[in-house]
Amino acid sequence: MKRPIGVIDSGVGGLTVARELMRQLPKEAFLYLGDTQRCPYGPRSEQEVRAFTWQMVNYLLRKNIKMLIVACNTATAYTLQELQENLDIPVIGVIEPGARAAIKVSQNKRIGVIGTEGTIQSKAYPRALQSIDENIRINDLACPPFVPMVEDGMLSGPEAEGIVARTLQPLKNMNHIDTLILGCTHYPLIKGLVQNEMGNHIQVISSGEETAREASLILSYQGLLNQSEEDPVHEFYTTGNMEKFRSVANSWFDQPVQVLKRIRLDH
Ligand code: SIN
Repeated sequence: MKRPIGVIDSGVGGLTVARELMRQLPKEAFLYLGDTQRCPYGPRSEQEVRAFTWQMVNYLLRKNIKMLIVACNTATAYTLQELQENLDIPVIGVIEPGARAAIKVSQNKRIGVIGTEGTIQSKAYPRALQSIDENIRINDLACPPFVPMVEDGMLSGPEAEGIVARTLQPLKNMNHIDTLILGCTHYPLIKGLVQNEMGNHIQVISSGEETAREASLILSYQGLLNQSEEDPVHEFYTTGNMEKFRSVANSWFDQPVQVLKRIRLDH
C-alpha cells in the first residue's frame, strides 16, 4: 500500500493540514496540490469551486492516490458529499473533524466559527456542530482579508495585526464564546495573531489534528497503511508562483520542500 495520499487545497493553507498528516502518518507519501493561481476560493460561486475542485481531484486520481483529503474548507463545504459518492477511495474533509475538536473542548457550548464567505454562507459548520449536539450556539463570521494576507506571506507584523483586529471586531462584540474554530485552512498560519486578538480565555481550534486522526483510523481500518520501511517522498504541486509557495512551505515544515512542480489545471 505504497500508493500516495492526495491532499488538495485552494493554495498554501492546506499545508497546515499536510504537516499534521505527515506528523501522524510518517510512513505515508503525500501529494499536495494547491491551486494558488486561482486562490481564494472563498468569494467564488459554488459552481466554480466545484469545477476547480474536480480538476484538482482528477489530476491526483491520475497519480493513483489511495485516499483524498480535501484540506480546503470552502471546497469541503461545496463538494465533500459529491466526492464521497463518486470516488472509490476514502475522501475526508476538514469541517466535521474541526466541529468534533471544538465540541470536545467547549465548556459553555458557545462556539465561534471564522471562515471564508463561501464556507460561512454554506452553514456547513453550524450543520456539523448541531448534528453532534443540537444545544450548541454558534456565532460565525466571514473574514475575507485573511486568505489573501496569508497567500502573500504576511503572517506577522503591525499591518497583519491591524487587519486581524479590524476583521475580528464583530465577533468580539458578539462574544461569550469560549471556543473559536479556524474554519479555513489558511488561518492556522496566523493562529497566534487570532489568539492574541481574541484573548487567552478562548480556545482556538484548527482542524488539522483531528483530520489527521480520522485519516489514520480509516487507513488502518481499511488495511491501507503503508508497511514499507523506505522513507516516503512527498510531492508538492502548485498552479501559481513556485517561489511564493516554496517560501511559505519551507517556513511551515521542518525540512525544505524537495519536490515542487508547477502545473496547469485549466485545460
Ligand atoms: C480560500 O481559498 O478562500 C480558503 C480556503 C479554505 O476555505 O480553507
